Amino acid sequence: MSSRTTVRPATTGDVDAIVALEAEAFPLDPWSANLIGEGVSGLLPTITVVVAEHAGAFAGYAVVSVVDVDAELQRIAVPEPLRRAGVATAVLRGVHAVAGEGGAARLLLEVREDNAPARRFYERHGFSELGRRPRYYRDGTTALVLATTVTMVP
Ligand SMILES: CC(C)(COP(=O)(O)OP(=O)(O)OC[C@H]1O[C@@H](n2cnc3c(N)ncnc32)[C@H](O)[C@@H]1OP(=O)(O)O)[C@@H](O)C(=O)NCCC(=O)NCCS
Repeated sequence: MSSRTTVRPATTGDVDAIVALEAEAFPLDPWSANLIGEGVSGLLPTITVVVAEHAGAFAGYAVVSVVDVDAELQRIAVPEPLRRAGVATAVLRGVHAVAGEGGAARLLLEVREDNAPARRFYERHGFSELGRRPRYYRDGTTALVLATTVTMVP
């Protein structure tokens, strides 16, 4: 699939698709349409939103914040029917590019301890555990803090 998957900056035309995927992928704490609209419009300092397209249709997104030498992956999601086909891998490559262009050397993120698919995904992509935040999420679940080095593929 990845040969037909492209990654580009998000626009206001992507907000509805991102909001719908937020509700599906992050039902406990979805970002509001307003917040996502501000993010794609460049109104949130440090934030960049990227979108994947597969065969011309919305296929996922990521939100990355770059502050000095640290970038933080705040969101990454792919619609359920499109998973395990390399879309998030393509999106992560785009995130590394945004981070590197912004001058970041390290890419950090938090992941729920019980999110096995995401943990496997990050492990496969070279993230390692930096720390743990007990009861970080509203339902009491621990957050793992993961990090990797920013790499830009030419
Ligand atoms: C995590 C997520 C973004 C991965 O997206 P994806 O497009 O399916 O990922 P890819 O196809 O690029 O996966 C690459 C590799 O990650 C690992 N992986 C991804 N999903 C997995 C799963 N369900 N079980 C085990 N390993 C998995 C595998 O190593 C996979 O390679 P393989 O398919 O050759 O075995 C997706 O599952 C998702 O949207 N989840 C809901 C939102 C979420 O939890 N986001 C992360 C918040 S921290």
